[in-house]
Amino acid sequence: MSFKKKKKSFIILDSGIGGLYILKKIYKYIPNNIKIIYFMDNLKFPYGNKNYLYITKRIFKIIKYLNKIYYIKIVVLACTTASIASLKYLKKKFKFPIIGIYPYIKKKIKKTKQKNILLIGTYLTINSYHVNNIIKKYLSKNINIIKKYSSELVNQSELKINKNKINLNNIKNIFQKEINIKNLNTIIIGCTHYNFLTKEIKKVFKKEIFFIKNISRVKKKIICILSKKKYKRKKKDYFFFTKKKYKNKYIKKIFQLYKFNKFKKINI
Ligand code: DGL
Repeated sequence: MSFKKKKKSFIILDSGIGGLYILKKIYKYIPNNIKIIYFMDNLKFPYGNKNYLYITKRIFKIIKYLNKIYYIKIVVLACTTASIASLKYLKKKFKFPIIGIYPYIKKKIKKTKQKNILLIGTYLTINSYHVNNIIKKYLSKNINIIKKYSSELVNQSELKINKNKINLNNIKNIFQKEINIKNLNTIIIGCTHYNFLTKEIKKVFKKEIFFIKNISRVKKKIICILSKKKYKRKKKDYFFFTKKKYKNKYIKKIFQLYKFNKFKKINI
């Protein structure tokens, strides 16, 4: 394919459905002359229990593959785990903008009055140097960060989106210990998948919970590259996956919402 024929594209990448939450927030800012490609690497799902090198190699391979076919305007690494593992490296390797998402710990923690703040993410994220270094740097004395990783919460998010049902007891079991911690009203979301479960988390905690999601910062960065203009998107977009399993009606409905009309298994 010659360079001129390549279609301008907006790549959004995750191991599963987590990136759909980010896409929802930025969808209307993507101009019609840019094709959206949601790349779901479900063959290698979950990323959270893999190591830095493995994830970096994998994402590099995917972007390199897409870069051959499309003229990439922007890549959104809509996965905290992948951002922590590989964003710095990828930014050095490609010329187009690559935007990632990190748990937002810094300023809001300073502002909040709560003593206990729960930070949730995948195993890789919670144990990363990035996260622990920020906590060390910015933590004020009266704030205690409780770190928690859960791959089961990632599975529950996938189940919710795929099957449209969720058993609240499963969420309750995940947070068994944390539910009883006093003065815990703030949760930092450190995994894009978890954004789909905030209602359920509130229910099991049985109180008002303030969630710090970090989506607005990502949105700002993306709008900065595109423009503040809003569009009524007409383009039919592409949904790529690496393992054939998304056949059920509910997930197809979601994809139709975003006008994905081409589903394609990529052998990579
Ligand atoms: N969505 C990914 C994240 O934000 C996690 C899911 C996984 O473990 O693959 O970290």
